[in-house]
Amino acid sequence: MAGSVCGRAYKLCLAAITLAGLQLAGATTSKHGYEFNSVAITGGGYITGIIAHPKTQDLLYARTDIGGAYRWDVAKGKWTALTDFISSADSGLLGTETIGLDPTNSSWLYLAQGRNLGDQSSAFFVSQDQGNTFEIYKAPFDLGSNEMGRNNGERLAVDPFNPDELWMGTRTAGLWKSSDRAKTWTNVTSFPDAFANGIGIVSVIFDQQHKGTLYASACAPGGMYESHDGGKSWAPIPGQPMTWSAATASAFPGHSPASTGPQAMKVDLASNGILYVTYGDFPGPWGTSYGEVWRYNTSSHVWAEITPGRNGNSYPAPYNNQTFPAGGFCGLSLARDDPETLVVVTLDRDPGPALDSIYLSRDGGNTWKDVAQLSTPAGSGGYWGHPISQAALKDGTPVPWLGFNWGPEWGGYGAPSPVKGLTKMGWWMSAVLLDPFNSDRLMYGTGATIWVTDTLSRVDENCAPEWYVQTQGIEETVILALTSPTGGPGHVLSGLGDINGFRHDDLNQIPNMFAEPVFSNLDSIDFAGLAPNVVVRTGSCGHTYPGRCGSAAYSKDFGDTWEMFATCAPEVNSTTWSPGSITVDASGEHVVWSTLLHYQEPTGPWTTSDFGKTWTAPQGLAVQTTNIAADRVAPGTFYAYESGVFYVSRNGGVNYSSALAQNIGLPAGVGALPVVNPFVAGELWVGVSGVGVFHSQNFGKSWTAFKGNGNGLNPSLLAAGKGAAGKSSVSLFLWGTAGQAPLDVQGVYRSDDNGVSWVRVNDDKHQYGGIITIAADPRVYGRVYMGTGGRGLLPI
Ligand SMILES: *[C@@H]1O[C@H](CO)[C@@H](O)[C@H](O)[C@H]1NC(C)=O
Ligand SMILES: *[C@@H]1O[C@H](CO)[C@@H](O)[C@H](O)[C@H]1NC(C)=O
Ligand SMILES: *[C@@H]1O[C@H](CO)[C@@H](O)[C@H](O)[C@H]1NC(C)=O
Ligand SMILES: *[C@@H]1O[C@H](CO)[C@@H](O)[C@H](O)[C@H]1NC(C)=O
Ligand SMILES: *[C@@H]1O[C@H](CO)[C@@H](O)[C@H](O)[C@H]1NC(C)=O
Ligand SMILES: *[C@@H]1O[C@H](CO)[C@@H](O)[C@H](O)[C@H]1NC(C)=O
Repeated sequence: MAGSVCGRAYKLCLAAITLAGLQLAGATTSKHGYEFNSVAITGGGYITGIIAHPKTQDLLYARTDIGGAYRWDVAKGKWTALTDFISSADSGLLGTETIGLDPTNSSWLYLAQGRNLGDQSSAFFVSQDQGNTFEIYKAPFDLGSNEMGRNNGERLAVDPFNPDELWMGTRTAGLWKSSDRAKTWTNVTSFPDAFANGIGIVSVIFDQQHKGTLYASACAPGGMYESHDGGKSWAPIPGQPMTWSAATASAFPGHSPASTGPQAMKVDLASNGILYVTYGDFPGPWGTSYGEVWRYNTSSHVWAEITPGRNGNSYPAPYNNQTFPAGGFCGLSLARDDPETLVVVTLDRDPGPALDSIYLSRDGGNTWKDVAQLSTPAGSGGYWGHPISQAALKDGTPVPWLGFNWGPEWGGYGAPSPVKGLTKMGWWMSAVLLDPFNSDRLMYGTGATIWVTDTLSRVDENCAPEWYVQTQGIEETVILALTSPTGGPGHVLSGLGDINGFRHDDLNQIPNMFAEPVFSNLDSIDFAGLAPNVVVRTGSCGHTYPGRCGSAAYSKDFGDTWEMFATCAPEVNSTTWSPGSITVDASGEHVVWSTLLHYQEPTGPWTTSDFGKTWTAPQGLAVQTTNIAADRVAPGTFYAYESGVFYVSRNGGVNYSSALAQNIGLPAGVGALPVVNPFVAGELWVGVSGVGVFHSQNFGKSWTAFKGNGNGLNPSLLAAGKGAAGKSSVSLFLWGTAGQAPLDVQGVYRSDDNGVSWVRVNDDKHQYGGIITIAADPRVYGRVYMGTGGRGLLPI
């Protein structure tokens, strides 16, 4: 394989840079000096755009589909989150559709925020200090940072000759213009077609040299328009490709493109007047099967197809074992110092081999080098990837989940290593940037991280550039499950969307991902209160392991090594998506699995005392419920509160006794997760959303209510952790509201006196669009872990 002839190939650049981000203290909350640093996982979600200010070195912004926007802090060597102030009520704003920069003034930053079409919560965040503070203006149209086509763009552009004016291509409302820096907007009704198809006008760019010339491109065949009078009148760019070229159309007999002709994905204009365009047949980021790359000479009005891989114009030759359409072309970046140097990236050339390629041209697209193929070590079987050792930050700190040395079992887009020894080049590599101040530096985003090389020109010698990961500070994971054990090396165990789960021994260090079985989503995790070395987890596996259950695993060494359960609970198998929740009793001997499936007879959560060799349906509880928890001290004891009935088992989940909620002091007709005292048998709480918090000290036989919802106490999530020094009680944490004003703001609150009084522990600047999971540390007073739906895991 190419690359092996290059002496310096595959060596990491071991520059001795200590990244400030790794030295941050983080989570020293024992004195309640609450800090707001993420637990290090580093990346974990889709980077939809990387945007550089054209005139200010190292001023970079990244946008994400569900986790807001970040600014690169070159001094700290990390990305800074800019949108953490978004409240849970505004969680629809926690995604950045497009970023606009003022080329005349690097102070200004425009973020177009809004996750989903139709939820009518879109806004422009306008900053005059590079994102430290914002003015917020409601947008008069929908935005969709997590919708199809989010890989395209940029949709927003600032007029370089009049930076008060912004132009915006929308998904459903046509082309719009603001003359007051995004405060108010008007529809550009002279634009001939609104392309209101949900994807809409994906790109607006200005000619930086010719006042009044701008281009707007829609996701539709023939959807590219130009204006030469400052946007007053528009016309289709003449001669643009309207149908697929013969070479594209004949490339894959039997597969038809999804569109009748090329649809623009990304567009950029070089300083020599050449417009470069990448095209696909589908908006992406998934489902794009065909694509082309074209250039347009804006002086001569001549178009030329320059698709890499055509007519032998790329080196090395395209991998010839392709069994699937070759994907579209999306990612595009032009070098500032040379109008003939550009990079384009394929989109969705998957399933492999071969996977997506990054192509570099030095001659305006006449010929190309396949950077991905040249970066790939020998023996990859056509899967483009980095040597697994390169899955590390520039200082060598590994990002072990990216370099998880797995194999084809963990398939799909998210699989980081389709071949042992290789970490995938990427997928959804639509964000690509040639650094405007150093065109030897190429950055690209993936569905999970950002890769960087500072030695791109090695490709000119047919050698592999050296790559590293530069995602520190970006935490874009979804935390589905959380617990904080009473003992052992790790203070927090987490289950994540897409990337399995982790045990963090040091909150600032990126740990290894949990070993096999790897779950696409880890839905549930628990430890045994008296034997915290015993850990159990369930999740969506997708891979079949003969003779074992791939959807549930247990560890007897705090999560270092894992065994699969002998069999899955009845009705579940290794391909069951979202197989429910799992809990283990205090002794570590009895495991209860609530599968949430009801195919046959109604039955309660299954129990096993031999890690899945045999499963027993319980008596006395006949419904699968996630509202079930184990006592951390009394062996064999489980509590469930479901549909107005409270259940207790004292024999390992085999038999449950029950009481009607209203007869024991609990609200009728509802249920909630029992939250146990980590150190006292039989003491527990439930937080009933919209009602209040309830407390029992006798294994749930009777309950007393704290101030209820009439007084504003409204918990959505509840957790119990170590109590304050000198207090015998736990500290309680709730996510919700904790009383009358000022405690009526949705937030995280702590009570050190068993619910009598509450203090808020997060603040308005740290809301993360709300939290979805919570755990309190039984060993550190005041520490609570907040799991978010797109901003990772935050201890405060
Ligand atoms: C750039 O914008 C900032 C924020 O509005 C302003 O304070 C500054 O004066 C501007 N700089 C120039 C050169 O106009
Ligand atoms: C905006 O103008 C376009 C014409 O470009 C028109 O088709 C569309 O309906 C208008 N949209 C709104 C929301 O007024
Ligand atoms: C674009 O066309 C003009 C006019 O024909 C020509 O002078 C120029 O060299 C062309 N640019 C490039 C980069 O080929
Ligand atoms: C390439 O195709 C051949 C013939 O279909 C097949 O035997 C071989 O396994 C393929 N290689 C890869 C890496 O898929
Ligand atoms: C696995 O379980 C799912 C339900 O979760 C079921 O639809 C599927 O048929 C099962 N597969 C096998 C092989 O039993
Ligand atoms: C517990 O349940 C089992 C069946 O799962 C049943 O045989 C047994 O009689 C029950 N024991 C009690 C005490 O109810």
